Amino acid sequence: MIRSRIVSCGGYLPEKVVTNEDLEKIVDTTADWIEQRTGIKQRHIAQDDETTVSLAVKASKIALENANLSAEDIDMVIVGTTTPDMTFPSCAALIQRELGVKPGKIAFDVQAVCSGFVFALTTANSFIATGQAKRALVIGAETLSRIIDWDDRTTCVLFGDGAGAVIIEACEGEGTIDDTGILSTHLHTEGQLADILCASGGVSTSGEAGFITMEGKEVFKHAVTRLADVVDETLEHNGITKEDIDWLVPHQANSRIIEATMRKLDLQSDQVIITVQNHGNTSAASIPLALYEGYKNNAFKKGELLLLEAMGGGLTWGACLVRW
Ligand code: UT7
Repeated sequence: MIRSRIVSCGGYLPEKVVTNEDLEKIVDTTADWIEQRTGIKQRHIAQDDETTVSLAVKASKIALENANLSAEDIDMVIVGTTTPDMTFPSCAALIQRELGVKPGKIAFDVQAVCSGFVFALTTANSFIATGQAKRALVIGAETLSRIIDWDDRTTCVLFGDGAGAVIIEACEGEGTIDDTGILSTHLHTEGQLADILCASGGVSTSGEAGFITMEGKEVFKHAVTRLADVVDETLEHNGITKEDIDWLVPHQANSRIIEATMRKLDLQSDQVIITVQNHGNTSAASIPLALYEGYKNNAFKKGELLLLEAMGGGLTWGACLVRW
């Protein structure tokens, strides 16, 4: 059976850092409120000349270098993003051109907001499992700061910009839980809840991208319950228990949401990659950036089981179980 294994990771964050104290000066908030309610202390914000594609290209070059590969070795680019450089073409096509991925290869974007990387990884895994691609560059990249209403204290303190990239490639597996690579993926969407977390515009409505609007408490409630459900679904599907999980690599929206999943799985804090304090919520970029953090620090050992999970606008949510 064909599996996809993670070969390398990369990540890039804009140099400009905005702290909670900086935000105190522009909206009616306090550094303590932000930290206590979200765990966030600072976030990185793109400069005017930085874009989703430019951040993604930097993250991808690091992933390629870490794998000792060149862009010519990649036969699929898939990008999870909600903040593309252009209405079209896709960020993936622009990244293909910028990196020098061969013409004629597969490149497209996936839009599932904060779940974007889980959706992109699942899609790339399916292309590899069905023999349509051998090696994929899977990216989560965002410039959320471009759709933040900086006068809205309920949202502007939460988000940040960044990009993470992962290279996955086909390998032979036995079809058992002991295989290396992506073991299962689980995706869900509930459009009925579209209005509780959305952007206030769009190409075919206002003609503008709009700004993030969110019913925070409602989204929080759904995040905790949907993530608990998808964790149960993943364990059950694979015939494993929570004790089998070595690492949680969660979407980074709020440390209280991460702690809820951590408690559910009885994990210690040294088994969870937490970046929200430094990055804020980088939407589709948060999981690949967290993977890069673990990868850089040699945290993941061969054979360990990683659970990736995310929830975002749509609502969308999902999980991937990966053996390192
Ligand atoms: O990644 C996609 C998924 N997104 C998420 O998972 C985010 C989910 N939601 C959350 O993380 C939390 O709901 C928030 C962090 C957004 C808000 O925390 P909360 O504990 O749910 O606060 P709240 O919205 O219930 O607001 C509590 C109070 C309100 O004041 P009153 O009505 O009690 O007087 C807010 O107006 O805090 C006020 N508030 C603030 N105060 C200072 C809201 N934002 C701020 C702020 N600074 N920035």
